[in-house]
Amino acid sequence: MPEFPQNPPQKFSLDDHFLNPDRSNIEAIRKLGYQFVDLIVDSVLDSQNQSFVKDSSLFNINIPKQGESILEIIQEVRSQILPRTINFHNPDYMGHMDSVPAMITIWADALVSAINNNMLSYELAPIFTQMEAQLMQWFGNLFGLGSNCFGTMTAGGSLANISALLLARNWKQPQSRNSGNINNLVAFVSEAAHTSFEKAMNVIGLGKENLIRVATNHRGEIILEELELAIQKSIKAGKQPFFVAAIAGTTVTGAIDPIQAVGAIAKRYECWFHVDAAYGGAGVFSPRLQPLFQGCNLADSLTFNPQKWLWVARTCAMLIVKEKQNLIDGFDSELPYMDEQTLNFGNLNLQGTRRTDSLKLWMALKAMGTSGCQYLVERSLDLSESLRQWVELSPELELVCEPTLNIICLKSQDPHFSTTKLRQQWIDDDKLWLSLPLWKGDRILKAVVLHPYAGRSL
Ligand SMILES: Cc1ncc(COP(=O)(O)O)c(C=O)c1O
Repeated sequence: MPEFPQNPPQKFSLDDHFLNPDRSNIEAIRKLGYQFVDLIVDSVLDSQNQSFVKDSSLFNINIPKQGESILEIIQEVRSQILPRTINFHNPDYMGHMDSVPAMITIWADALVSAINNNMLSYELAPIFTQMEAQLMQWFGNLFGLGSNCFGTMTAGGSLANISALLLARNWKQPQSRNSGNINNLVAFVSEAAHTSFEKAMNVIGLGKENLIRVATNHRGEIILEELELAIQKSIKAGKQPFFVAAIAGTTVTGAIDPIQAVGAIAKRYECWFHVDAAYGGAGVFSPRLQPLFQGCNLADSLTFNPQKWLWVARTCAMLIVKEKQNLIDGFDSELPYMDEQTLNFGNLNLQGTRRTDSLKLWMALKAMGTSGCQYLVERSLDLSESLRQWVELSPELELVCEPTLNIICLKSQDPHFSTTKLRQQWIDDDKLWLSLPLWKGDRILKAVVLHPYAGRSL
């Protein structure tokens, strides 16, 4: 038998932290769980009528030598931590692409932590490997990626975009995987594309200068002629275009690039075609938005984040590829300490150890059904239409551009009251919490209408 330390720290009891195999503390653990349920329901969910931020003072983590009781810690979270959080549960919070999570995903997330399987390999997560594989194919089919599609869940859209660029690099120049030699590759995205593409170019060793940002129109959609001109210019300069992305739901205005046409250009120049639907992807559930997703079938890869517009508690994001083989070849990795005959997601992902986010996503889809997803997406479009009308009827406000999704961009028309000042006043008055992005050189206000009860103060 191993030797245990003689004396645990004063007041420290294993039974406070783990279930005793003799089950003597099972009721105490259950009761503690109920305390967490009360904390979440009463102090987090039921804060819809409370301020966006109650306390902005600094916090000190204060780690003690001697552990404290979990009940005391819950009390400290209630009184010290929660007041300092940004309250996404207030329906008038519309600042960024941060949704209030659907209830099942909150509890499911705790379940994921309790099970604590590891997506590294099949033997560490057999059921969740099957579940993730099937879900990736299910979403691939939803976007029309075809019968060979596959994918992997990631810790966010940035990581999915970075992975897509890595796959594209290795597809275009397979030698780069081993030798690290990369010749003259250039990638193309619109000026409205997310900054993760720059990060990606940095990570895959191509450098940000080799990401060409193409001009957009007033709504933020890529200008096709400019894309083609930029590609031709780069070829003349001795570069090799390898990657073109269309954005389905840009970060500031929610614009959707003409996916089909961008895809056709990508194919004409033998480039990998990626669709960044991190935000807008949920639009495939909406009949009125579906036509805008035509052309996704051309995509070699696609990013989608149910953690944004599908109300799944984060993290929940994915990269889907049209050809499973590209995922295998692109990562080209092995897990010598695992059974290589099985599907091991650790070989198909930049991450190794990873949470089983598939369980949360599966439970959410089961609970909502596809018709529930459609209803929620359509509802948020309707609520954002009310906000758009409110802006149009307000003499002191103007729309920045016609919305495509549930993102409304506006600014102050009052020369004596800047957009920045207006935003602060609305936050101080607990009226609306909007973000203040830079758009074509101007500070504007962005409302992302995600809360299913949004807009009560309009
Ligand atoms: C269009 C788009 N792509 C990618 C991302 C990055 O996603 P994440 O924040 O999950 O890394 C965002 C984030 O807002 C986005 O708007």
